[in-house]
Amino acid sequence: MTIWNLGSINVDLIYRVPHIPQPGETLAATGKQTFLGGKGANMSVAAARAGATVRHIGAVGQDGDWAVQRLASYGVDTSKIAKLDTDTGEAIIAVSDDGENSIIISPGANRAILPQMVGAALSAASSGDWVVTQNETSAQVDALSTARANGLHAAYAAAPFEAASVLTALPHIDLLILNQVEMEQLAAALGKGAGDLGVAHVVVTLGAEGSDLYSAGAPAAVRFPAHKVTPIDTTGAGDTFTGYLLAGLDRGEPIETALNRAGKAAAIMVTRLGTADVIPTLAEVDAFEG
Ligand code: RIB
Repeated sequence: MTIWNLGSINVDLIYRVPHIPQPGETLAATGKQTFLGGKGANMSVAAARAGATVRHIGAVGQDGDWAVQRLASYGVDTSKIAKLDTDTGEAIIAVSDDGENSIIISPGANRAILPQMVGAALSAASSGDWVVTQNETSAQVDALSTARANGLHAAYAAAPFEAASVLTALPHIDLLILNQVEMEQLAAALGKGAGDLGVAHVVVTLGAEGSDLYSAGAPAAVRFPAHKVTPIDTTGAGDTFTGYLLAGLDRGEPIETALNRAGKAAAIMVTRLGTADVIPTLAEVDAFEG
């Protein structure tokens, strides 16, 4: 089957810093590198590296040919990426020596995607395909509701987190992925826990502790412990996790199998500086013993 990813595409400018700057502080970086990024692009690359057929729905600006070419070079179908009369999305990312990060996003073309563009792209999807989206583009609910109406599976990775966006997505999804803090915020907004959202599967990521799976009808969450690694940079690890998880589900694996592999992929990812360009391959993930 195919994974259709309505997702952001950014140029990631990663600055290595001794610590995350405080308000009012000016800090010299000890290094700077440029990567392909955006939560959407990272997920597309991860799913493609995990062996899935991935078609990215998105947009870049007039300066974005390089990003489209790079996605294509990583095995992602780019025929549904528009080139718009605006800037390509950009992320300024500070990564501290202890592996923490801080990200500023300029959305650019990512937020100029129109519902019609998504509808036209998804008209080529087939029943049983997956649609995934995050919260860095426009038209997410259009993608998710179109997926539901056409017999596709729908997943939403609720990042960057906004409770209101999750609330509008919830009626249309089969899989929700979010982190522990976000889940607490959502529970506070809704007065409901992860197991009571009416979503077939909710995956709550717990950083160094792993992830919890809440399945509709199951009496309790199932914990998938994390692999112990020394983190260099956690940027993109969650996106890598989601891409690998979806690739496993798309090829019909039980969600437990897919979650185990996704956890390994994320563990490798946190040991690397960078985003889409350094996402581990399936061979690396399957060889990982951590
Ligand atoms: O999740 C990491 C991503 O967040 C980066 O690639 C950056 O572009 C932002 O979208």
